[in-house]
Amino acid sequence: MKRVALVPGDGIGPEVISSAVRVLNETGFDVELVEFDIGYSRWKRDGKAITDDDVEGMKDCDCILFGAITTPPDPDYRSVLIRIRKELDLYANIRPLRSERIDAIIVRENTEGLYSGLEVLGDEEARTVRVITRRGSQRIAEVACRIASERRHLTVIHKANVLKSDVLFLKTCREVAERHGIRYEEMLVDAAAYNMVIRPERFDVMVTTNLFGDILSDEGAGIVGSLGLCASANLGDRWALFEPIHGSAPDIAGKGIANPVGAIRSAAMMLEWFGEKERARLIEQAVNSTLSRGITTPDLGGRCTTSEFTDAVISEIRHELRRGDQVDL
Ligand code: NAI
Ligand code: MG
Repeated sequence: MKRVALVPGDGIGPEVISSAVRVLNETGFDVELVEFDIGYSRWKRDGKAITDDDVEGMKDCDCILFGAITTPPDPDYRSVLIRIRKELDLYANIRPLRSERIDAIIVRENTEGLYSGLEVLGDEEARTVRVITRRGSQRIAEVACRIASERRHLTVIHKANVLKSDVLFLKTCREVAERHGIRYEEMLVDAAAYNMVIRPERFDVMVTTNLFGDILSDEGAGIVGSLGLCASANLGDRWALFEPIHGSAPDIAGKGIANPVGAIRSAAMMLEWFGEKERARLIEQAVNSTLSRGITTPDLGGRCTTSEFTDAVISEIRHELRRGDQVDL
């Protein structure tokens, strides 16, 4: 049986993850969920947000379904997510952006670039080293081309006119795209930021380096309409981690009004990764038809609670499953 590490985390993390698990169970997907207590509340109790044993335990699972973690107020704290991404070598961050205005996928390099961790910090001068490698660029370009081969085209986003390290990234992406026969264009990151707002429909698959991808994907969430709607996958060659892109939202935690769509869509991406395409599609359709009926949480102007919204998604799934023969699980 598949084993999934479940990390509810802090704040609204457990609220949206429990919705995602309810929806997952409704599809009949047979899975063992192994819960990990990591994050801020763990740090308050034990002084550690995550331990070596936790990381080893996660490696015994196929993948991770992650809620959100509140960053502890400790200057020496190192991000739990960055640690997991590094130790499990989750190099490809995939962020679909889907709404009436946009239908694009950002493919962000997740392990190098300006997040190399190579820093020299002084009072008068501080430096961060931007690392671009051929191997890192090649493997992210391969992932982007694989996705683009089933869609329309690829945009390689860079700043090679100023950052000469991006010449290597750009050149490598070109080579990979040409080898796979993928239709592609190149765009400077500032122009891409502008075009995403002005003409979001011109984008399909977008591949870029770590920091640019981080920033453009939050911009994309703004274009979609709410942070609460967006899901993501962090993929490596062996493991993967799926998470909504939002944080722990302490301002609304405990009120039962968090939008669970990002977490539910993350669970659908996980099913897709397991090769469970029909179950993933069932969830996507149920979420979309619930939203299009105007059933929404307050971040989208609605009045639903998290659990009312989840109930509506579940009844859509039951309805679809009752129609029976079209759904081949
Ligand atoms: P945030 O994403 O938690 O919240 C930003 C705003 O969006 C808030 O007003 C919040 O209420 C709203 N929001 C977020 N998700 C929502 C949802 N599902 N439904 C409805 N509204 C939603 O970002 P913020 O406030 O900057 O960070 C809060 C904490 O989360 C911090 O400790 C931060 O470090 C952490 N964080 C953790 C992440 C993770 O674990 N992946 C990612 C981003 C932030
Ligand atoms: Mg970010």
